[in-house]
Amino acid sequence: MKTVTKAVFPAAGMGTRFLPATKANPKEMLPIVDKPLIQYAAEEAAAAGITDLIFIIGRTKRAIADHFDKAYELEVELETRGKLKALESLRGMLPVNVNCIYIRQAEALGLGHAVLCAQPAVNDEPFAVILADDLIDGEPGVTKQMCDMYNYYQCSLVGVQPVDPSETGSYGIVAAEPMGERVSRVTQIVEKPKPAEAPSNLGVVGRYVLTPRIFHHLRHIERGSGGELQLTDAIAALLREQQVLAYEFEGVRYDCGSKLGYLEATVEYALKHEELGDEFRRYMERRFCRAPAFGPDV
Ligand code: G1P
Repeated sequence: MKTVTKAVFPAAGMGTRFLPATKANPKEMLPIVDKPLIQYAAEEAAAAGITDLIFIIGRTKRAIADHFDKAYELEVELETRGKLKALESLRGMLPVNVNCIYIRQAEALGLGHAVLCAQPAVNDEPFAVILADDLIDGEPGVTKQMCDMYNYYQCSLVGVQPVDPSETGSYGIVAAEPMGERVSRVTQIVEKPKPAEAPSNLGVVGRYVLTPRIFHHLRHIERGSGGELQLTDAIAALLREQQVLAYEFEGVRYDCGSKLGYLEATVEYALKHEELGDEFRRYMERRFCRAPAFGPDV
């Protein structure tokens, strides 16, 4: 039995919703409090026992590779100045047995194409796909939950949650037959259907565990929604020959691809932050409980 030891992080999109912040910086490097989104995603993979992190990067994405490299001068500087906590936050970023692999996606042809770019590093193994802009606060992390499911069912899985029926046009949507607690068998999957055409309101969020057979389908799909090569369309083809399960994960998901979701995540993670939480909570209370709703902060 093969276990999941590889995760793919597609990170070559244009991040148009956050321009101009994402003009020269990848959206995956936007911080939630003090950690970039891509680091939350990498930590979630490492916590699931994944040892090969495969980043699919594009133009203006060099910062991602720089972020996971050792920064010798910075470490020496922090050590000299006795800033040991900051030093620890750099040194402990990823476990030592984790490898980072970077693959350039020369053209942004869609999520399906990004995943196909990972094939030389994934080969013939099951693998996870993590979209860093879907930040999911779960314990254990959602990738761990899904790898455990994979170990049990030995088939592809998509992470899902019910979405507002008016928003099906922003998601891959599945039709599924219940099988067990939190698990159902996918019978249909469609990329970004209009509400009237959606088979349900169960939306795929950015977590997948896929069998390597997906690469065969990724090579054969045609451009789909938005004129892009869609991972959803390859999963629809995979479904005709292999079982695919929908897994309703445990955890809270923040859509950090949207400004509102990004701000919600920032507030929630700030409130939970070890050093900042109490002070930030006091600020929020001052600001929203006692002060007039739109008055000055007193
Ligand atoms: C991608 C997928 C979509 C999925 C979504 C989750 O869309 O294509 O199926 O539901 O991520 O965030 P994107 O948001 O990149 O347009």
